[in-house]
Amino acid sequence: MAASLQLNVRSFEPFFQSKPLSKHSPRLGTIRCSTATPQKRYTITLLPGDGIGPEVISVAKEVLKLTGSLEGIEFGFQEMPVGGSALDLIGLPLPKETLSAAKQSDAVLLGAIGGYKWDNNEKHLKPETGLLQLREGLKVFANLRPASVLPQLVDASTLKKEIAEGVDLMVVRELTGGIYFGKPRGFSTNENGDEIGFNTEVYATYEIDRIARIAFETARKRCGKLCSVDKANVLEASMLWRKRVTAIASEYPDVELSHMYVDNAAMQLVRNPKQFDTIVTNNIFGDILSDEASMITGSIGMLPSASLGESGPGLFEPIHGSAPDIAGQDKANPLATVLSAAMLLRYGLGEENAAKRIEAAVLDALNRGFRTGDIHSAGNKLVGCKAMGDEVLKSVDSQIPAAV
Ligand SMILES: NC(=O)c1ccc[n+]([C@@H]2O[C@H](COP(=O)([O-])OP(=O)(O)OC[C@H]3O[C@@H](n4cnc5c(N)ncnc54)[C@H](O)[C@@H]3O)[C@@H](O)[C@H]2O)c1
Repeated sequence: MAASLQLNVRSFEPFFQSKPLSKHSPRLGTIRCSTATPQKRYTITLLPGDGIGPEVISVAKEVLKLTGSLEGIEFGFQEMPVGGSALDLIGLPLPKETLSAAKQSDAVLLGAIGGYKWDNNEKHLKPETGLLQLREGLKVFANLRPASVLPQLVDASTLKKEIAEGVDLMVVRELTGGIYFGKPRGFSTNENGDEIGFNTEVYATYEIDRIARIAFETARKRCGKLCSVDKANVLEASMLWRKRVTAIASEYPDVELSHMYVDNAAMQLVRNPKQFDTIVTNNIFGDILSDEASMITGSIGMLPSASLGESGPGLFEPIHGSAPDIAGQDKANPLATVLSAAMLLRYGLGEENAAKRIEAAVLDALNRGFRTGDIHSAGNKLVGCKAMGDEVLKSVDSQIPAAV
């Protein structure tokens, strides 16, 4: 199952090869001792956010600290407000100090934002607006969301075992365009005097081309199969999407491209998810399909994500939200955030060994039978967020030298 994780993460290599290294220029060797003197220092902006965000970020921070100490890495953490907590503190969902700190750091690790308390705020004062502004501000247009069914968790999937086992797919979602950002948008009144709400799904050629190239590169490093998901039978923006993805395909003759309408893709994901290797899609379809894919794996609490731009720090976050129903109860699964920290190390900082150390520790904690409520099944040990973090820390600590 480590191989399964590896298969996904290998997909990122091309972007990071072309991505400028951190200003602290990580050295590529491994320090195989538990008391390594820090030789590299990175600044990480932590954005705990709302709900379970602070709980899962606190676990990930400890895991990063311990892993760093074993790998000769020192982290400087700066914690900044975002989302509802920033609204309460400063009155804005993304204070300019937060964006500025994020831009100046080597990588950004986000918990989650949102909650009932702010649900009825005006749009510009909603926590979600802060997240969209953050992605826009960091210019991270490519969101990569792996969804792999780990053998340890196959029983947690809502699908039958024979459908779920072996699923290993990657959703490449366009993140800074489409209907979430398109203009015009707003509220108005139609000719009958009815109030209307409207949004615009719009994509320019350059936006489609750059995400398509990332998706083809990703597929090339995986099983060489790319499925582009759109709604080209109805939407003009999707017609252009299909035309450009097809055009970019000529640069990647070794990748097998197929197209699928989004309604069919939603159905196929639960009917036969193993048919997919890499999926590329727009912002809104990617939002929905990646959540659907997450359920195949057993829990939304297991899935990390990486959001990357052409330069500057990447944004790493679990795909789940702030889970207000379990916030503050020590019930959250911190593993999606811990695995996001592993992605941060690999793809944000080029620290492959440290990333592997964390991934191996997560698998080890699962192998030892520890489960949070969302992935718990009979015969396993039910633990809370903090205790799961402690088990991962024990596993990190016990791997000397780092698993390679
Ligand atoms: N990136 C983000 O920060 C993000 C993403 C999605 C939703 N949200 C926000 O989160 C709030 C709640 O949204 P939602 O309920 O639709 O989605 P959610 O992901 O917060 O929760 C959906 C379900 O999954 C469970 N869950 C989520 N993460 C979990 C974890 N780590 N461990 C165990 N169980 C977990 C929750 O308890 C809930 O039952 C909303 O305000 C929404 O806008 C934020």
